[in-house]
Amino acid sequence: MTTRIRADLLSDTLTRPTPAMRAAMASAEVGDDVFGEDPTVRALEERVAGLLGHEAGMFTPSGSMANQLALRLHVRPGEEFICDSLAHVVRAELGAAAVLSGITTRTWRAPRGLLDPAEPLDLLSVGVGPYQVSTSLVVVENTHNFGGGTIQPIEAIRAVRAGTRPHGIRMHLDGARLWNAHVATGIALADWAASFETVSVCLSKGLGAPVGSVLVGSAEAIGEARVWRKRFGGGMRQAGILAAAGLHALEHHVERLADDHTRARRAAVACAQAAPGCVDPETVQTNILMLSTQPTGWTPAELAAALTDAGVRGYPAGPAAVRLVWHLDVDDAATAYAIDVLTGLLGQRARS
Ligand SMILES: Cc1ncc(COP(=O)(O)O)c(C=O)c1O
Repeated sequence: MTTRIRADLLSDTLTRPTPAMRAAMASAEVGDDVFGEDPTVRALEERVAGLLGHEAGMFTPSGSMANQLALRLHVRPGEEFICDSLAHVVRAELGAAAVLSGITTRTWRAPRGLLDPAEPLDLLSVGVGPYQVSTSLVVVENTHNFGGGTIQPIEAIRAVRAGTRPHGIRMHLDGARLWNAHVATGIALADWAASFETVSVCLSKGLGAPVGSVLVGSAEAIGEARVWRKRFGGGMRQAGILAAAGLHALEHHVERLADDHTRARRAAVACAQAAPGCVDPETVQTNILMLSTQPTGWTPAELAAALTDAGVRGYPAGPAAVRLVWHLDVDDAATAYAIDVLTGLLGQRARS
């Protein structure tokens, strides 16, 4: 018999469109977007570009494609981008920058994904061709997924910008969860986005849309990105059905992200009591709780399996952590259930 999952904390990509979102999708005006004729896609692109304070936007099927298009725009074959060693672009996009664009990468260490400006600035390789590889781009992730939903300090981002600008080195923000950083801090999306040539944001994570991301930048950069999107196979036709879900999410699902943050923090406090050292609740700033398994007596695989058996799904994230992510489809009751299960399991071995 399979256990009924009562709190699915595997990822914030699991959300299902709400009835209101489905209604918005069903009534969306559409056209052929490859010909630039889908009014709902245009509206979404303009809305996101406006929110982020950039000239233009482009809808993409995924966050990975938006990131890869940005890399393609900013870095020529044989040049490099740099990012932290836990960044999604380097850990979870299957080497796409190398495979698709002939780009090399170097990384800096960032505990919890937290940006220390000295790290990228020390790593920059400025105009060293033709013998060494020159740095063309710095990528920053905010919030930081594998770091545990970490919000980057805006001063740190600005310090990196100040250090890269004199050398003409560009910056791209992987803002898959920039909405969470905005809601948690009250800092305007445009202020977060101001230090970057391009920014990618996801509609299909905490915002609850089924598909899609938007890449924003200058009109020139986005014009070029449209050509590469088609080349990469990302030209979509009547995509307004999907864009309508994104517009609906922007209208109704941004401010509620604060609930996800509160629930994740509540769970963190309970876990820290059950197994001291497994998480510092102060570090749970948004919707992601990264539990260190070492102080719990469980391995990540064992803990994830025991959670699933009890009706709670989590993700074994590397050799020493389980990741739990809050989203639109996990309410207070599901959170209370997850906390009961988590504290029960953590308490078992932490005590013995
Ligand atoms: C930080 C970050 N960037 C990019 C992506 C890629 O998004 P997608 O799964 O839509 O390709 C993810 C997905 O989880 C992510 O967490």
